[in-house]
Amino acid sequence: MRDTTPQPIHLADYQPPPFLVDDVALTFRLAPTATRVIAKVRFRPNPDASPGHDLRLDGEGLKLISAHLNGAEITAQPDESGLTIPAQDLPEGALDWQAEVEIAPDGNTALEGLYMSRGMYCTQCEAEGFRKITFYPDRPDVMAPFRVRIESDLPVLLSNGNPASSGQGWAEWHDPHPKPAYLFALVAGDLVAASDRFTTMEGRDVALNIWVRKGDEDKTAYAMDALKRSMVWDEQVYGRAYDLDVFNIVAVDDFNMGAMENKGLNIFNSRYVLASPQTATDSDYASIERIIAHEYFHNWTGNRITCRDWFQLSLKEGLTVYRDQQFMGDMRSHSVKRIEDVLTLRARQFREDDGPLAHPVRPESYVEINNFYTATVYEKGAELIRMLQLLVGQDRYKAALDLYFARHDGQACTIEDWIAVFEEAAGRDLSQFKRWYGQAGTPRVDVSEDWQDGSYTLTLRQHTPDTPGQPLKEPLVIPVAMGLLGADGAEMVPTTVLELDSPEQSFTFPDLPARPVASLLRGFSAPVVLNHSLSSEDRALMLAHDTDPFNRFEAGRALARDILHAMVLEGATPGPDYLNALRTMVSDEALDPAFRALALHIPGQDDLASSLYAAGHVPDPDAIQAARTTALRLIAEALRPQLQDVANAMQTPGPYSPDARDAGRRALKVQAVSLLARADEGAKAAELFARADNMTEQLGAWGALLAIGKGQEEGAQFYRQWAQDRLVVDKWFSAQVMYAAPKAAAGLVQQLTQHPDFEWKNPNRFRSVIGALGANPAGFHATDGAGYKLVADWLIRLDGVNPQSAARLSTLFETWRRYDASRQALIRAELQRIRSQDNLIPISIDQNS
Ligand code: ARG
Ligand code: ZN
Repeated sequence: MRDTTPQPIHLADYQPPPFLVDDVALTFRLAPTATRVIAKVRFRPNPDASPGHDLRLDGEGLKLISAHLNGAEITAQPDESGLTIPAQDLPEGALDWQAEVEIAPDGNTALEGLYMSRGMYCTQCEAEGFRKITFYPDRPDVMAPFRVRIESDLPVLLSNGNPASSGQGWAEWHDPHPKPAYLFALVAGDLVAASDRFTTMEGRDVALNIWVRKGDEDKTAYAMDALKRSMVWDEQVYGRAYDLDVFNIVAVDDFNMGAMENKGLNIFNSRYVLASPQTATDSDYASIERIIAHEYFHNWTGNRITCRDWFQLSLKEGLTVYRDQQFMGDMRSHSVKRIEDVLTLRARQFREDDGPLAHPVRPESYVEINNFYTATVYEKGAELIRMLQLLVGQDRYKAALDLYFARHDGQACTIEDWIAVFEEAAGRDLSQFKRWYGQAGTPRVDVSEDWQDGSYTLTLRQHTPDTPGQPLKEPLVIPVAMGLLGADGAEMVPTTVLELDSPEQSFTFPDLPARPVASLLRGFSAPVVLNHSLSSEDRALMLAHDTDPFNRFEAGRALARDILHAMVLEGATPGPDYLNALRTMVSDEALDPAFRALALHIPGQDDLASSLYAAGHVPDPDAIQAARTTALRLIAEALRPQLQDVANAMQTPGPYSPDARDAGRRALKVQAVSLLARADEGAKAAELFARADNMTEQLGAWGALLAIGKGQEEGAQFYRQWAQDRLVVDKWFSAQVMYAAPKAAAGLVQQLTQHPDFEWKNPNRFRSVIGALGANPAGFHATDGAGYKLVADWLIRLDGVNPQSAARLSTLFETWRRYDASRQALIRAELQRIRSQDNLIPISIDQNS
């Protein structure tokens, strides 16, 4: 409960910092309930700011022991958000600030600032956690070199930069690269390292360490391998080398998000570091690879070049996501990676854009910056960079990036700086493109076609729906990559990029021998909803023949979606066209198994709710769930021999390897076995579970059984086998919730919260039990409202303890608008109950939405 309503901060109000920092020296005397932090900070007036400002330092929850300015004791007392030394009390010129504060990391359940995780100290400072450590101008455009001294009896004491010196009970670190406070980090604990070395292209010998708890050393090999590959890749593709003598990674069990790119000391949620074939699935391995790369790439895109203010967050996050996507494509398969990325974008970002939390990639105002680490800022931000690359071409993209690094190294930058390097490198005006950063909402592109006298005309119309607070939308520059196929599937017109920059535009292709089938938005060339009605024959043709793998996948998906819509709305059954196309595809050995596995997935419940709503219907979660169950059974029955063949054929001889080839084969095998379970009562899945020697197959097989209402015994066995492994126990919880029958889901969650292993203050565990309801839409939306009530109860309970995790959970409600009046009323009542206790939960359904 908060008594003051925080005021929004506006991009338009940005002012440069009145004081810059030349040097920071911190001393930590660590103790769980009374850590002392002594800070010495050298300030100097900013020549680019107007004179005469107070010295304002941010600070929250700090017990001030003493403070001095240029040697004189300060009498000013802190308020709830910081400390002000009035301008008239400030000496001329440079200022030497010294302050000692006391903090209690042990009671810090918000996991922001300095906190403890099972006996180890660690920090999380992005976005505004440093102000919970000491008084400081906690804003990214104040950059300084840091020296840190840690005093503690714990054996391993780490901070940013290079080790300077150490002795019994203390260690000193020096980070020569000026950095904002959000990149500060400290770790102290009884840890062990897996170590390696890397020589950069500049000849620097770098010590690499991955620090984990004793007993976890044997689960670090893949993260280390991914780190070294990331370092090589950034040198080869972006020309960027590492710039310190050590690179430390620490795995922490209690962590609010995935990981954090602190300079020279990346801190990770342990689930994105630790892996063994027996305990991690192939998709866990892929996440580890991606996140290790992501945080490493931040060293240049985020740390060397940072953000001027938090409105510019996508400057580092969108770009770094784009870089990790490119890396993953290079390491694995570009087409499979693109399909996966688009599925995520639609599931998370399109959903966000269609709800009350819609906001632009660069927001204009915020109340709580932690609520802007969103799919829009990250994933849509990455799509904008992908579009820029497509519009200017690869060579100019490279030139723009080289210019960006050369011009802005060491600076705190804006989206304007970013656009400017592209305008210069490409010699093109990008002012219209820039609207993508300021305009929220997913554009719709409607297609109409005309065929006359051998000439094909394509007409594209764009419009972006209203979003909260932003009713007026302007036309965007939308790159539409497209090609034309003949009736035999041969390519008549190879891929070209059309630029749609007006509300409506036509493009004519003359002199064609026959009516073409247009393959539009190849590679998903822009983050839009494309409304292109095609016959199922045309879609089947594209599924069989399109030269663009993404659109091949998309054609199959559209077929499945249309059938599922008809099943939900009219009780139809899948026709032979779709089943035949699927049958051909599954057995096509020319196709990558990973692609076939993806293409065998029919659209999920939330995806169907969204597409039904977009088509003007009120989605019924129970009907959707029932239609999917029927469709999966009919597919399994119709494709039974092919699925059996594929399941048997997808062997992965030799020792387990998480690489793309073997992972793709396992994905296809598990997907085939999961479908077969719908036709063989789980016989093959039970068999796979019994002989699985890796987590991908063990969990996949158990999930297949749960999905058909079986797997009780296997679940008990799974728990007995893995009770000691926290990350696997998370999987044990979430699988049960995900696959629970809709009416039983909330009750099951309730029951699991009574389990001795349910530690609700651990974000991973909380998410694996309560958050997992989000993966069971029919369960969450059960008509009695039990799912809503349960989530609201936990939200209220968690908000006082860990507001960031609570805010994340609240997004389960963001699709409220799609549903029927009775569900809406139930949701509204819960949201009002939440709001009467707390006004920081970001969802509001009353105004503007
Ligand atoms: N910068 C981190 C990353 O790489 C995430 C930090 C998230 N911070 C937050 N307050 N949610 O993506
Ligand atoms: Zn990031």
